[in-house]
Amino acid sequence: MATVVPSWCLNTGGMEEHAEQSANKVVVTGGAGFIGSHLVERLLATSPAHVVVVDNLSRGRLAHLGAHRTDTRLQFVKADIRDPAGLEAAVEGAGVIYHLAAQSTVMGAMHDPAHAFTTNVIGTFNVLRAAVRCKVAHVIFASSRQVYGEPIRLPVEENDPLMAINSYGASKVAGEAFCRAFRREFGLHTTILRFANVYGPRDVGRVIPLWVDRAAHGRVLEIYGGEQIVDFVWIDQAVEALVRAVVLGSSLPPINVASGTGTRIVDLARRIAALASAHVPIAILPPRSVEVTRFVANVDRMRQLLQIEPPLDPLVHLPKLLSPLAESATRAGVVAPAASAPTVSSVAALDPPRRGAAAGRQLEAHAVGARRVSKRGSRPRIAV
Ligand SMILES: NC(=O)c1ccc[n+]([C@@H]2O[C@H](COP(=O)([O-])OP(=O)(O)OC[C@H]3O[C@@H](n4cnc5c(N)ncnc54)[C@H](O)[C@@H]3O)[C@@H](O)[C@H]2O)c1
Repeated sequence: MATVVPSWCLNTGGMEEHAEQSANKVVVTGGAGFIGSHLVERLLATSPAHVVVVDNLSRGRLAHLGAHRTDTRLQFVKADIRDPAGLEAAVEGAGVIYHLAAQSTVMGAMHDPAHAFTTNVIGTFNVLRAAVRCKVAHVIFASSRQVYGEPIRLPVEENDPLMAINSYGASKVAGEAFCRAFRREFGLHTTILRFANVYGPRDVGRVIPLWVDRAAHGRVLEIYGGEQIVDFVWIDQAVEALVRAVVLGSSLPPINVASGTGTRIVDLARRIAALASAHVPIAILPPRSVEVTRFVANVDRMRQLLQIEPPLDPLVHLPKLLSPLAESATRAGVVAPAASAPTVSSVAALDPPRRGAAAGRQLEAHAVGARRVSKRGSRPRIAV
């Protein structure tokens, strides 16, 4: 199993010093990652908390926390949640753990399911056990919409069956199960938040950052399948849900954290292409079988319990991600200067080695006419 690497501290104090501040100490596992680093920023900005980040930097970056390196309330511990000893040393004296560290992508887990299992299942077990041993009051678990697998209906309610279809989703189902078990067996307060597709600055390797980068360089946006409907949620809303889950108490049921509005993947591609200062082609490739095709969350529980109202347009913040990249790419002379309507091309023309059943299919053939269902919460809303 992984070893603990000596702490790299952003502050001047050691772990013992922090243990004395138990009332104010919170731990964020995965705090150098995408969601975690935004959460850390929020905690430091709006609370008196001493924040201990536990991260092995497999995907996270210290640079994500760089703006706070002089803040004495922040401590970074380079440790692996698969190592119980390192974890307990970091957790000692904390009141709350936000557990976000994970093998966090569907494709990553598919390529290395053993790593996903040890990190997401054993790692979560270790976090919960450390919480019990160190008498931590509350653990917030970052679960995923992938626990539902291919939904039996839309929008998906929290009580719908958990039928994960990939290793990532399965590992989150197991993590949730241990949260419930530890709650019953040891009285540990656990809250499960099931995030839909979160987007925002610092994300990497997922569809929006990949396409934003490609669009900024005038490169083709590749769509696997083209039938997908995705529920996107802006990073600030995800952070808000995490913070409120602690403030609002310890007996919350699992909660979908989502927009409640489905975006057709082809519409996402079109919007990114239209925002880019470049001519950006779009191509349809064969579908990938591990991916859930359609997901829209029912967000009634989020509204009622967390008092969070999602925006009508889940992609309203998309331009914030596009502008800087598009501008820099244009400055570098990488892309064509004028924005234009996205061109739809066949796989055959754009990517000869990857031809498949879907090769040659034209995007326009999907007839993705936008519709919005007016009554919120009862039928899935599909974004324009
Ligand atoms: N981003 C999304 O759209 C999304 C959606 C649903 C659920 N989630 C969940 O939210 C959490 C945060 O997601 P994210 O998007 O910020 O992912 P991320 O990959 O950016 O962050 C995860 C962090 O965990 C760290 N980490 C990984 N394995 C570790 C280990 N064994 N020990 C210690 N640290 C480890 C990584 O270095 C990284 O900093 C994850 O649990 C993820 O499964 C994310």
